[in-house]
Amino acid sequence: MIKTENLIKTVSTSEGELQILQPITFSVEAGQSIAIIGASGSGKSTLLGLLAGLDTASSGEIWLDDAPLHSMDEEARAQLRGEKVGFIFQSFMLVPSLTALENIMLPAEITGLSDPKARALAVLKQVGVEHRAGHYPNQLSGGEQQRVAIARAFITQPKILFADEPTGNLDAKNSDNVESLLFELNKQSNTTLVLVTHDPELASKFDRQLSMNAGVLEEVTA
Ligand SMILES: Nc1ncnc2c1ncn2[C@@H]1O[C@H](COP(=O)(O)OP(=O)(O)OP(=O)(O)O)[C@@H](O)[C@H]1O
Ligand SMILES: [Mg+2]
Repeated sequence: MIKTENLIKTVSTSEGELQILQPITFSVEAGQSIAIIGASGSGKSTLLGLLAGLDTASSGEIWLDDAPLHSMDEEARAQLRGEKVGFIFQSFMLVPSLTALENIMLPAEITGLSDPKARALAVLKQVGVEHRAGHYPNQLSGGEQQRVAIARAFITQPKILFADEPTGNLDAKNSDNVESLLFELNKQSNTTLVLVTHDPELASKFDRQLSMNAGVLEEVTA
């Protein structure tokens, strides 16, 4: 489902070239759940952005459901993302001018699903924010924004779901609820799940754990 070959990310900074990701070669089977752990600044979000086709690698190959992301242009990548990928951003990335409900409807509208509003209301309820449907992002708490961002990623029932610390801002009860939703989607729709977390207990519930250390990705063996 996901395959990378010597994936490298380098950025230019005022102090010269900085290599954020060392050559990364790994693969994830369809329906697998993967947790990525590692220190702050080690490159986890950078890797997730590359795997989802949101950012481009400096070199190397990425295959997403047999499509070669590394040789596709932005338009083709955007189409692939719309069809197959859900992404829960660490910083939520909600559209400020749209209400919670409208934010969630957006991907359903873009991909042309029927009755986006009913679908959006249903997923908003699943994350427990239905009483804030008409609120704009700046009228929502951090945890509510996070749950809206999660609902937005769920609505299209993506084949692959990337989640960057999706429970980072949630209390224990909401965090458990989001965990259950993620695993439900993984089991029922065979969604491939790639999640970044700082929570070792959450990570231990995944099929595999990988750890990122200064741009080096390694399998964690129990
Ligand atoms: N565009 C960029 N230009 C320069 N440095 C960058 C850029 N993007 C990321 N970095 C640096 O690369 C490193 C990895 O960043 P990344 O966001 O992937 O870390 P992370 O593992 O997700 O950390 P956290 O757990 O804090 O979210 C950081 O040191 C960051 O400052
Ligand atoms: Mg990060």
